[in-house]
Amino acid sequence: MSEIKKKRVLSGNRPTGPSHLGHLFGVHDFWVSLQDKYDCFFFIADYHALTTSYDKVEMIQDNIREVTLDLLGAGLDPKKSTIFLQSDIPEVAELNLLISMVTPMGLLERNPTYKAQMQELNIKKPNLGLFQYPVIQTVDIVIYKGEYVPVGKDQLPHVWIAADIAKTFRHRYGDIFPIPEELVGEFPNVPGSDNRKMSKSYGNTIDVRDDEETTFKKIKKFYTDPEKIRIDDPGHPDGCPIFYFHTMVSGKEHCDNVKSECESGKRGCVQCKSEMCENLNNHLKPIRERRTEFARNPDEVDKILLEGGLKAREEAQKTVQAARKAMGLTERSRLIQTPTIKYKFIK
Ligand code: TRP
Repeated sequence: MSEIKKKRVLSGNRPTGPSHLGHLFGVHDFWVSLQDKYDCFFFIADYHALTTSYDKVEMIQDNIREVTLDLLGAGLDPKKSTIFLQSDIPEVAELNLLISMVTPMGLLERNPTYKAQMQELNIKKPNLGLFQYPVIQTVDIVIYKGEYVPVGKDQLPHVWIAADIAKTFRHRYGDIFPIPEELVGEFPNVPGSDNRKMSKSYGNTIDVRDDEETTFKKIKKFYTDPEKIRIDDPGHPDGCPIFYFHTMVSGKEHCDNVKSECESGKRGCVQCKSEMCENLNNHLKPIRERRTEFARNPDEVDKILLEGGLKAREEAQKTVQAARKAMGLTERSRLIQTPTIKYKFIK
């Protein structure tokens, strides 16, 4: 029996800071769950980090390392998935230029994420890089022929723009890559300590690399139902971040218990928090241990990115070759070889 070809999944993460539990439960766990069923490509989007942090080059370098460890800690397995660094694939820049020819300015002007970022980061003079953020993202997807793109809710507009651009390209130049579709996981709205969405910019995060004690201290300060002051006050678990965390780490049966006890005033928030936090720390234990293990072996991590990059680049070259051909460009560039610069990659 011939094996059915697995569909391709592709997604990325910007290295703008260490991953927090919103990334882990909202996105990384979801990626890990797709590894067996799909042919997965996951990467660190360092070009995208440069669109806003262009003056923080060293910070990006540090965060590439941290986020790679977060992904491997979460359980991305280089034997199953192709894991690599966006900027290691020069063809991304080449296809970006070609794709820009079929990208209407208006589509980018209407991008809600662009407007939100300009406001949030108080950007007065946006650069072209930030403006074309969704173009680079489109290239990331189509260059590896990504069919499904598992992302957090905040990234949905970018995936829709990518689908739009891919359709326009197909209409003009033929069927070179699939039209991508989004996938959203089970926990897209992980709350932070103030019950807003967990986000570095709100300062309400628990990071994957935090230790158990730090996690406990942070959970202690989490928002709880303001109407529940005494233990026997009935609570409202549905709007409570601690209950949301229970649903991620405590199992269905226990959650049902927590809910009915809370609603009937039989459970206090202090007890509820420490119980949940114990389950949370237990859940994070193997992830944190795996992360620490990889952190002790930087050469192995380098090797994972190098091997992933080789595989990703092979795919990228095929796509760019086809796109150039469809757009009437010559193949001479592939024949013109420059003298090889010798790089020392792995110590
Ligand atoms: N913009 C995404 C984020 O900030 C990262 C990203 C870059 C991405 N390229 C992508 C996600 C392609 C999915 C597909 O999280």
